[in-house]
Amino acid sequence: MKIALVTGAGRGIGREVARQLAEHGMTVFAGVRDESHAPEGTRPVLLDVTDAATAANAAKVVGDEYGRLDVLVNNAAICGDYGVAPAEATAEHMRATYEVNVFGVVTVTHAMIPLLRASGEGTIVNMTTRLASIGLTIAGDDFNSGWPMLAYNSSKSALNALTVLYANELRASGITVNAVDPGLCATDMTGHTGDRQAAEGAAVIVRMATLGADGPTGTFSSQEGPTPW
Ligand SMILES: NC(=O)c1ccc[n+]([C@@H]2O[C@H](COP(=O)([O-])OP(=O)(O)OC[C@H]3O[C@@H](n4cnc5c(N)ncnc54)[C@H](OP(=O)(O)O)[C@@H]3O)[C@@H](O)[C@H]2O)c1
Repeated sequence: MKIALVTGAGRGIGREVARQLAEHGMTVFAGVRDESHAPEGTRPVLLDVTDAATAANAAKVVGDEYGRLDVLVNNAAICGDYGVAPAEATAEHMRATYEVNVFGVVTVTHAMIPLLRASGEGTIVNMTTRLASIGLTIAGDDFNSGWPMLAYNSSKSALNALTVLYANELRASGITVNAVDPGLCATDMTGHTGDRQAAEGAAVIVRMATLGADGPTGTFSSQEGPTPW
């Protein structure tokens, strides 16, 4: 049986990813800041991605029992500058956002890499967004032009860069690392705008998380296929 960990699994898309991975028969650790929010069928583990001690403890909990981790979904994120124009965004917006979306991912990934190596066919899925695409932003893409958020968008561009660097190194350990965009979903982050429900966005993530060792690595994609970097 495969062992999975999902960060930010208490609500939104992450909660659905955790629930669906459990439906796939995986043992799922739901990384949450409030254990009562973990979805049914999962095992709650306290995890604030900005707190390295909680990440180390989560690795110990998984490692002590299973000695490996097969699937890591880096889902937890914040959008700290929703509706803030680039010229109005401050370094504080950047720090707060990068703390979770970039440094948080590194904190958790760094803690889990030994367990992912032990899997022999580990998979990391980093939750990104179309807004991270510098190519689409340069091209004047309508969606990206409508949401020019300095902190959030660039934090996810940084996450995409991390994805490629991790993918290149970890390929030799049989670990795949991909950045996946769930598409615009109606969650707290988006003020519940968008036609797509969290469960539909989660399905895009779960598909990549369940491809196994034969799946691609170092890619950026959505339900529609590859997304320009
Ligand atoms: N919604 C969309 O349309 C959309 C589109 C593209 C990409 N995404 C990406 O999809 C992912 C999920 O988004 P969402 O819409 O589900 O967001 P959401 O509803 O706002 O949920 C965010 C999740 O992140 C967790 N979180 C925030 N800070 C954390 C921290 N320091 N430590 C641990 N967990 C933390 C929250 O936990 P608490 O409950 O404890 O606060 C919550 O579970 C994000 O990476 C987002 O960037 C979303």
